[in-house]
Amino acid sequence: MKTIWITGGSSGIGFATAKKFIKNNWRVIISSSNMLKLENAFNKIKKNLDIKNLHILKCDISSQDEVKKTITIIEKDIAPIDIALLNAAAYSPNKKQNFNIDNYELLINVNLKGTLYCIDILKNYMKGRNNIIAIVSSPIGYRGWPTAGAYGMTKAAQLNLAESLYFDFKKLNIKISVINPGFIDTESTRLNSFKMPFLKSADFAAEKIYNGLINKKSFEIFFPFFIVFFIKIMRIIPYKIYFFIWKKLGNF
Ligand SMILES: NC(=O)c1ccc[n+]([C@@H]2O[C@H](COP(=O)([O-])OP(=O)(O)OC[C@H]3O[C@@H](n4cnc5c(N)ncnc54)[C@H](OP(=O)(O)O)[C@@H]3O)[C@@H](O)[C@H]2O)c1
Repeated sequence: MKTIWITGGSSGIGFATAKKFIKNNWRVIISSSNMLKLENAFNKIKKNLDIKNLHILKCDISSQDEVKKTITIIEKDIAPIDIALLNAAAYSPNKKQNFNIDNYELLINVNLKGTLYCIDILKNYMKGRNNIIAIVSSPIGYRGWPTAGAYGMTKAAQLNLAESLYFDFKKLNIKISVINPGFIDTESTRLNSFKMPFLKSADFAAEKIYNGLINKKSFEIFFPFFIVFFIKIMRIIPYKIYFFIWKKLGNF
């Protein structure tokens, strides 16, 4: 039986992906910063699925100590990790377009430093094992968006990090993958005040992630195709046209 560790597995994409892997007979460990949310997630899964191979562990990824402790418990007491899905993130849309340094620091600590803490410990265990570290970034990281500020910056950094580590970790025999979902209906995106185009469910995202990691084994897993492909094109157009499009779209 193979083992996946999913950070941020208490809700949204992480939770749906946990269910998908359990259905496919994987041992699943979900973690998040809130034990109560994790217990609720556990109880929800228990209603429909066999949970004998489901574990919950509190792990605030912005704490280096908690990350180290959690990965050590999984590797030594549960099972070696085959896939680490680094999915946990904080989200805070900046509708008023205010520059708030506290918000930047929070998102850097969770989304960026948290991801780095996980990778730092995981690499020691995973090297030579041909395992996968998959980082959940976002198409928002392709280019700067209005109101995305701190969040977009951390997602751009995660994307760049994944591309860079793809090369470096080949030497350690660890596969790096990056996941770029379009708009998915979760607790985080319910904070958005705009209508999200091509909005999909977390279960849809879980299907794509499972298929991408297990069957396609591609470096980048992105979905739904049309909207993310459109955002990819936005990445390469000149600034003048890019800024003009945003002006037309929302008077930014
Ligand atoms: N939904 C979308 O449209 C979309 C699009 C592109 C990318 N993404 C990415 O997908 C991932 C999942 O997001 P989601 O939309 O599913 O949002 P979500 O439902 O809000 O899930 C976020 C998860 O992260 C956990 N988390 C937050 N802070 C944490 C911390 N300090 N330590 C550990 N866990 C923490 C949350 O659990 P606790 O509160 O229990 O800690 C929760 O389980 C994120 O990386 C996000 O950037 C989402």
